[in-house]
Amino acid sequence: MRQLTGFLAEKGQTHILQGFDGLSEAEQDKFVRQIENIDWDTVELWRHPEDLSGKGHVEPIEGLSLGEIERRREEYLSIGTDAIRGGRVACVLLAGGQGTRLGSDGPKGAYDIGLTHPLYIFELQIKNLLDVCNACHAYVPLFIMTSDKNDAITREFLKNHGYFGYPEEYIRFFVQDMAPSVDFSGKLFLEGRGRLALSPNGNGGWYSSLKRAKVGEAFPEIEWYNVYGVDNVLQRSADPVFVGAVIASGMNSGAKVVRKTQPHEKVGVLCLEDKKPSVIEYYELTEEMASLRGADGNLSYSFGVILNYLLSAKKLEEIARERIPVHVVKKKIAHIDENGALVKPEIENGYKFETLILDMIRLMDSCLPFEVVREREFAPIKNKEGVDSVETARALLRENGVEL
Ligand code: UTP
Repeated sequence: MRQLTGFLAEKGQTHILQGFDGLSEAEQDKFVRQIENIDWDTVELWRHPEDLSGKGHVEPIEGLSLGEIERRREEYLSIGTDAIRGGRVACVLLAGGQGTRLGSDGPKGAYDIGLTHPLYIFELQIKNLLDVCNACHAYVPLFIMTSDKNDAITREFLKNHGYFGYPEEYIRFFVQDMAPSVDFSGKLFLEGRGRLALSPNGNGGWYSSLKRAKVGEAFPEIEWYNVYGVDNVLQRSADPVFVGAVIASGMNSGAKVVRKTQPHEKVGVLCLEDKKPSVIEYYELTEEMASLRGADGNLSYSFGVILNYLLSAKKLEEIARERIPVHVVKKKIAHIDENGALVKPEIENGYKFETLILDMIRLMDSCLPFEVVREREFAPIKNKEGVDSVETARALLRENGVEL
């Protein structure tokens, strides 16, 4: 114990021992294990929240426009369908997030967006995937990433709903890693006495977590992972035309993109950075870059990413040991105060540490931007109201003929 106190004193973190003596032996052991698992290098990053990664030389990237895709649709469709039939494509649904902006307690996928009848986000996404499976006469392995916070409830929800018609033998769950959180002066938060306030470590950890869970072993033919977010109610996964286009391009990855509607739209943009594909956040684009236009009159930096990527399994294996940057993100973090009372903040009160899948794109060396029609494929639910909210997603679902 003295050793632990000394160690935490060195780190300026002895406050987390509040109430330690009152814990049972088992609780103490569990807490010590949590402390031993802390990646202190990551925690130290709280000092540099704005200092993410220096940008290299940024240029626009060439991509497949809607017109080009239409012209080669049959060819792409045939290549993609073959890959799906051969078991070479798997889906990875990223559902480990906490949806703090939406403020709903349960998993986002279990959110009921219906008005006259229940209609869940998982249901909408699985229905679209089933359409592909039916057209290809083959099921796609569906790997669902959860976190410690929502694993049990997600599994139970999907089981209780019969996986919305998807065959259970093609579904695997895996749990992502957790990271600690700190206040604005770097002090670790506790969620209770003897329990660090841990949260999912961002969607960039999906591949290492998937590998550790060995869920892919039952499907040795997999050559491509289609990785996508849970919060897009128009999400189209295992899209054979997209899969075919990426395979035909010979590139290591592809990203579904939508054309930005105006220069300052708040989406990450796919471009080249030092000749490698890279996603630049909207606030990292200079004024000049944001409004630059090519000879065709289109914005030069116009490919907004929608969190739907196709990644080569072989390339992922190659880059598995590379470290991706850790983002230090301001969030509202529930915790206990020095008297042990639970605090649920209304405004951001500290930092979480997250790696992001978009940072993996650079490591893939090549990436094909594949344009999709925004109104057909992109209706994210991020916020309670306003932009990217339940309301905007409902309007887009209606536009696509979905009865609410
Ligand atoms: P967001 O970046 O929107 O994060 O996730 P979030 O946690 O869902 O929501 P906020 O920021 O707290 O409001 C984009 C996608 O990545 C997944 C989410 O489930 C969503 O599909 N994700 C995010 C994870 O799987 N794990 C994470 O640690 C973070």
